[in-house]
Amino acid sequence: MIRATVYPAGSFEFKSDAIAADKSISHRCAMFSLLAEGESQIENFLRAEDTLNTLKIVAQLGASIVDDGKTITIRSNGIHETSEILDCGNSGTGMRLFCGLLSSAEGHFILTGDEYLKRRPMKRVTQPLRAIGARLDGRNNGDLAPLSIRGASLQAFDYESKIASAQVKSAMILAALRSDGVCTFREPELSRDHTERMLLGMGAQVEVNGLETKIYPLQKPLTPLNIRVPTDPSSAFFFAVAAAITPNSTVVIEGVTLNPTRIEAFKVLERMGTNITYTLTSEKYEPIGNITVKYAPLKAVTVEENISWLIDELPVLSIAMACASGKSIIKNAEELRVKESDRIKTVVDNLNLCGIVTEEYSDGYAVQGGELQKAVVNSYGDHRIAMSFLIAGLRCGMEVEDIECINTSFPNFFELLSACTKVEK
Ligand code: S3P
Repeated sequence: MIRATVYPAGSFEFKSDAIAADKSISHRCAMFSLLAEGESQIENFLRAEDTLNTLKIVAQLGASIVDDGKTITIRSNGIHETSEILDCGNSGTGMRLFCGLLSSAEGHFILTGDEYLKRRPMKRVTQPLRAIGARLDGRNNGDLAPLSIRGASLQAFDYESKIASAQVKSAMILAALRSDGVCTFREPELSRDHTERMLLGMGAQVEVNGLETKIYPLQKPLTPLNIRVPTDPSSAFFFAVAAAITPNSTVVIEGVTLNPTRIEAFKVLERMGTNITYTLTSEKYEPIGNITVKYAPLKAVTVEENISWLIDELPVLSIAMACASGKSIIKNAEELRVKESDRIKTVVDNLNLCGIVTEEYSDGYAVQGGELQKAVVNSYGDHRIAMSFLIAGLRCGMEVEDIECINTSFPNFFELLSACTKVEK
């Protein structure tokens, strides 16, 4: 188990176009290429464990993949049965989206993952997929991986999801594309919409009307992707918080997606007092631009809306809350309990170890701003917990145990962090 030590930071100016590429978009690039005719060209694909696992599965399903180090070229040969077990590693996105994609593919497929993924709920996709004819199974009546899928013909559906989850929405959209009629999917709050944007760009007929999406079955293969994956705002946000808690510091993040369903955490940081500006530089599939974050004293905030737009950023937002004056509250975020770790528990326990007073709720927590203190904390195998507490270390020093998980989403995190402060592994 590797441990890292971060030392308190002086003020810094940090500008980077090398923050990890977007994880959600990279997964989708690899998977959606399977539905295209011709060569998809993907630049700046995220070379992290989660997305490389997805890319490997796409190859195992029969695609030809050429990687020249800069551009990844994927040529689909249709989706083919394989004797190999498809290992999604730590990725819930990988596993849930493959459920939707493979439910209608000819053949039998086994999806598995690491010890953490095998504990995460899959019923949210297996249940609605089974209801339209998919033949999916797993432990605990189809809730836990390993999952087995035998491709079947799928019926058109009208499905109302109880949770705002892009993974559920995307799995159902992928199933709908190869179902026998026009499908409708509804969600309680808009979740990230990369699937809709990318499929539209590839020529699929997907109509979005508020919280309702209509999907028409594919009449022909999709047009290949030609994309440069933008910077991941969730990864970038660690450095936004780094500037927000370090007096006289500035961070400039380049080439990041400015998709409104992804930058809500930056908006909350603005509400807390941080000075943030956004510059749109291009638009293809997604609005893309630069974000500049400048330190200013932080004040407490309540976060209870648009939770799915900042669910991944809540752990490190909690570090900003610990440095703010007053009591911050997070509500309606029960989804945190079923992420790579139970993030309500892992954030609260680690903040307590750092001398911060918290209250735990079933659907969130409160953080009383105070003086963060150096501690030895554990990542619980969760990349976002590891990185959040390393960022807290900029303020007070920190030792974080079990940091290998950072490779699932942000392999060059340490390299970039050491531009802001001293770090040892
Ligand atoms: C993701 C959707 C979110 C997010 C995850 C990536 C995606 O999960 O937490 O990190 O790429 O679709 P849910 O859709 O389950 O909320």
